Amino acid sequence: RGTARVRMAVRSNAVSVAPILTKLQKDCATPLPVLRHVADAMAADMRGGLAVDGGSDLKMILSYVNSLPSGNEKGLFYALDLGGTNFRVLRVQLGGKDERVIDTEFEQVSIPQELMFGTSEELFDFIASGLAKFAQKEGGKFHLPRGRKREIGFTFSFPVKQTSIDSGILMKWTKGFAVSGTAGKDVVACLNEAMERQKLDMRVSALVNDTVGTLAGARYWDDDVMVAVILGTGTNACYVEQVDAIPKLQGPKSLSGRTIINTEWGAFSKGLPLTEFDRDMDAASINLGEQIFEKTISGMYLGEIARRVLLKLAEAGALFGEAVPEKLTTPFILRTPDLCAMQQDNSNDMKAVESILYDVAGVESNLSARKIVIEVCDTIVKRGGRLAGAGIVGILQKMEDDAKGIVFGKRTVVAMDGGLYEHYPQYRRYLQDAVTELLGLEISKNVVIEHSKDGSGIGAALLAAANSQYEHDF
Ligand code: GLC
Repeated sequence: RGTARVRMAVRSNAVSVAPILTKLQKDCATPLPVLRHVADAMAADMRGGLAVDGGSDLKMILSYVNSLPSGNEKGLFYALDLGGTNFRVLRVQLGGKDERVIDTEFEQVSIPQELMFGTSEELFDFIASGLAKFAQKEGGKFHLPRGRKREIGFTFSFPVKQTSIDSGILMKWTKGFAVSGTAGKDVVACLNEAMERQKLDMRVSALVNDTVGTLAGARYWDDDVMVAVILGTGTNACYVEQVDAIPKLQGPKSLSGRTIINTEWGAFSKGLPLTEFDRDMDAASINLGEQIFEKTISGMYLGEIARRVLLKLAEAGALFGEAVPEKLTTPFILRTPDLCAMQQDNSNDMKAVESILYDVAGVESNLSARKIVIEVCDTIVKRGGRLAGAGIVGILQKMEDDAKGIVFGKRTVVAMDGGLYEHYPQYRRYLQDAVTELLGLEISKNVVIEHSKDGSGIGAALLAAANSQYEHDF
């Protein structure tokens, strides 16, 4: 009887796994016409969002960053970075044109889960106390003139309606944050209040999105940087826009005639190849119907989509034996770094895949099941990488359509950051492939996608310097 049961399980496995997998691959397919459609829709939504607030899914937020780093920035600055899994503090000493970055020190802590669901005061107290501890370690190293405050570039990576370079209102949380009492408030005021509670006398000189910080940081070293993209826990892009191309921009236009726009492309939703698993994940999420592009391509979600597929395969086809492994029913138990680690196993017996599946999801797998798991991961990661590539082309295309030759006629750099891009080679390759397919070999030679590691911290500090209240001559 034992053998019979096993045989039956194996047979039903073969019967029911195949159609589910085939349907998944079909639903996730991103042939060239799909990519092109996504790129075009992205460009159209950019225009919609630039025309009027609320004109499309893309908020196209004005950053109030009207001049990019020149290299002449000088002095001691701090940067704070809140936006994903980690909170970072950074101290940087800028030496101007010749010396550039003289010294940097930084610390990083992971954000306790409960703070993501707590109150605004708790979250900002945590940030301010991290900053206070870090600032204390400065010791007696730097002497600022009397009355001068230490200045901070604050990278806050959520949709913020900027009201100036150093103030902005949180529109909503994303990426699983559900802190109460912050939406609708000025996040710099929240930080200032928390700093007061800590008796910490520092000043926020620039409030920036992580994409904007990355663009500024990368531009400091390379004048050809025109776009910055984050592919990490969440995803977003910003780019250099001509002020004349922003109908919703009222009042005085920037002197340079250009500004940085934070697209908030995570909210994009048109023409995406979605599956039942995406829809179910969205339905179970704390931000239903929002951040659909982000939910399809970014690090917070790829593992969870794969888990949902594997669970269905386990239920339908006894992929992992007859009983459905209990752990596999836990949302977010499988993380994107797990998919990545499994996809790096090129061995014949796929032992690494076996042990990751067992350790992470309590799943026992034979070789054929492991192969199916890898196919599932690859299908989801391929769709994500290729769609990210299409999004980038959409932005470049929009810029090029406005001013012929501005991006395709010369070297143009897209600065990239985020753990997903940094650590997932397959994802990176799929992204680059899609860009090359869409632009063609000739043009894509001019588009350089460059990893700008942790550029957003230095970038925020540079923008704090550019918007400093003081003369910096030391
Ligand atoms: C989310 C945020 C956005 C941020 C991105 C990457 O999409 O809304 O502001 O830039 O994640 O961290």
